[in-house]
Formats: sequence, structure tokens, C-alpha cells
Amino acid sequence: MTIIDIIEKKKRKEELSLEEISFFIKGMLDKSIADYQVSSLLMAIVLNGMTDKETMYLTKQMIDSGQIIDLSEVKGPIVDKHSTGGVGDKVTLILGPLLASMGIKMAKMSGRGLGHTGGTIDKLEAISGYNVELTRENFIKQVNEIGIAIISQSGNIVPADKKLYALRDVTGTVDSIPLIASSIMSKKIASGADVIFIDVKVGNGALMKDIESAKKLANLMIEIGKYFNKTVICFLTNMDEPLGCAIGNALEVQEAIDCLHGIGPLDVMELIIKIAGIIVHKVNKIELEEAETLCLKKINNGEAYEKFVQLVNAQHGDLTKLPKAEHVVSVKALQTGYIKSINALQLGEIARLIGAGRLTKEDTIDYAVGLVLTHKVGDYVEKGDELLKVYLNKKDVKTEDILACFEIVPNKVHKKSLIYEILK
Ligand code: URA
Repeated sequence: MTIIDIIEKKKRKEELSLEEISFFIKGMLDKSIADYQVSSLLMAIVLNGMTDKETMYLTKQMIDSGQIIDLSEVKGPIVDKHSTGGVGDKVTLILGPLLASMGIKMAKMSGRGLGHTGGTIDKLEAISGYNVELTRENFIKQVNEIGIAIISQSGNIVPADKKLYALRDVTGTVDSIPLIASSIMSKKIASGADVIFIDVKVGNGALMKDIESAKKLANLMIEIGKYFNKTVICFLTNMDEPLGCAIGNALEVQEAIDCLHGIGPLDVMELIIKIAGIIVHKVNKIELEEAETLCLKKINNGEAYEKFVQLVNAQHGDLTKLPKAEHVVSVKALQTGYIKSINALQLGEIARLIGAGRLTKEDTIDYAVGLVLTHKVGDYVEKGDELLKVYLNKKDVKTEDILACFEIVPNKVHKKSLIYEILK
């Protein structure tokens, strides 16, 4: 067997066998297969697809490429959560403590920002002193003691994905449903949770631009979950506009705190209650409505926020020292009307350019900078009303670039729903 035969076979749209996929993953990791050959096969997969069987084989080989986290010492059901990537998505920071306040454990490994999308670990590191690296013993101990720990993905989990992702990022081969499904599910399965919740973002700020492709991705991940004996729940949610108002690390932490106090933006609050509700319904086997009411109660009585404080304290963070930007610029509407769209992708890029994300792997993040929307899609604004605030330190921003992200029209607009579909 040679890698050239395998590439040729995928070029002819034929199904690869388990042995061929295993040969590919092993050869990529021991470097007997060159990066250009890996990239060539990736492009053939993007163009010609993979059957569900091939995707299962690929996922299994990726899982087996590294360490599998054994969470058997954690008592009780463990939930993991993943978002396919969006702008302003601070859900993990709120959902984890909320679930933990109801006895549902979250032993979570998260990633950093990718492209225009933010990452949970960068957000947590905006909290001065927060330690994202715990030993396995301390990780498990913390989950058993307070019900939650959020740490950075260990270098040894699914090394095949690390390598494949880095190549996909620079060879135009990210947008393939089987490659995305195997990348996400291999990491989630290797991380050891029993119930996996996945928020598949759909729209202009997301990887999946339309509902049909998002549905295909969700169904494939559910099938992979079944094969590995995991419960997978997927939401398809709107990422045509940013989630909530804040984009940028410390600003998003502050918004997450507001949500934990029950005073966050309506879309984030709605999403949190729906996600937490369905998880509590599934894990505690109670009616969905009852589960949602319980989630609201835990926010309103302060227990969810108290759990967040416990999490931050346990990982040595200091919430009194959230960084603040030196300058605040208010961007105002140039015309009167209804906001028809807010370009999440472009706002994510602008946040990245002013320092909230990285342009190269080596860049350091400015945790204080970012954007906070004053208005959302559907709102009525008058000329001169504030659309958003920009929080800046060293880097500047062009107001025209921000204004170009807003479409304002004379007539009332129909606001799309936040949750398009729930699949399980
Ligand atoms: N997130 C991942 O972890 N992998 C992908 O391929 C896409 C999004």
C-alpha cells in the first residue's frame, strides 16, 4: 500500500478501507507521508467526500492517535459542550457553572481562538491569574469537589487532529463535513464525557453557511456519537449576527457574569436556558419545562454565579482585576431605520485586528480590547444613535469599517429565530 494509491483511490471517488485510513494517519504522524501528500488527500476528500463508514474509521484512527482521558474517577454524569465556532460566543463560561450548580459535572478541555472566532481559553485567560493548565489529578479532584474545571486542551489529545487542522487551515480544506465531524468528535470522545452537546452555528459568521449543510454535519456527529456509545445533542443556531453584545475576551467575561446574574442580553439568556434545559432534561430525566424552570431558578438565586466564582478561585483567577481598555470610541448610526443585519464575520475580523485575536500563532492577545453592540438586528435606531462601542488600547480602527457591518433599512425587519433546530 502506498499513499499515492490512496490519493488516487479517493480521486476516483472510491471508499477507503480501515487499513488505508489507518496507514494514512500513522504515516502522517511518523512523517513517512509528506505534508504535500496529506494536503492532496485532504483536497480529494473535500471534493469527493467520504461515506459515513469512512468518517467513522477516520474518527477512530484520530482518537487512537493520542491519549484518551479516563474520567471514571469522576462521580456522576459528565457533560461536554462544543461550539463549531462563532463571534461573541461565551456560552461555555455560563453553561458550565450553571450545570455544575445543579450537580451536572463539566470536565472541559477548551481551545483558543481560531480565525475570526474566539476561544474559551483566551477568554478565561483574560481573568488575571486564571490557570488553564492543571495536572490530571488536580483536574479530576476539582471536578469532584466543585463540579467543574475548564482547562486548555492537552497536547496529547488527538495529535492527528492538531496536524490535520494546521494543514487544513492553510490549504483551503477546512470546509468539509466529514473532516469537521471527525475533527470535533475525535476530540470530544477522547475527552471522556458521557453526554456531548454541540452547538452547530449557521450563517455568515460560522463555518456552516446554510441550514442544510449544518443539518448534515449535526446528523453525522450524532451517528459518530452512537457508534462510540455517547449521547450527542445538537442545536443549529443563528450566527448571522454576533451572539450577545460583547466581542473580545474580558468584555465577554463581563457579559458572561451579567448573564449569570440574569441580566445578560436576551439572545444569550435564551440560548443558555434552552441548552441547559435540554441537558438537565436528558441527564436528570425530568420534563423539559421543569428543567428550564430549574435553570432559571439557579440563575435568579445566585447559585450559578457562585459556582462561577468557585471555578475562577479554584483555578487562581482574580475577578477583581479584569483588564480595561484605555480608550472607548462610540460609533453612531448615519441614518434612521431598522437594523437588518450585523455582519458577524466582519466584526469578528475587526476585533481580531484591534488585538482581541491573533493574526499569527505567535501574536499575544490584548484581553481588554473589543466591541460591544448597543443594538441588535431588528432594533430601530435614529441617525446619531450609538450602534456600538469600540474598546481600544494600542491599535486603531476605522469607523467606516464598522459602519459597513450594519445594514439599516427603512422598514421593520423580521428577526430570524435564534435556534433553528434541535437534533438528537
Ligand atoms: N472545529 C474543530 O474542532 N474542527 C473543525 O474542523 C472545525 C471546527
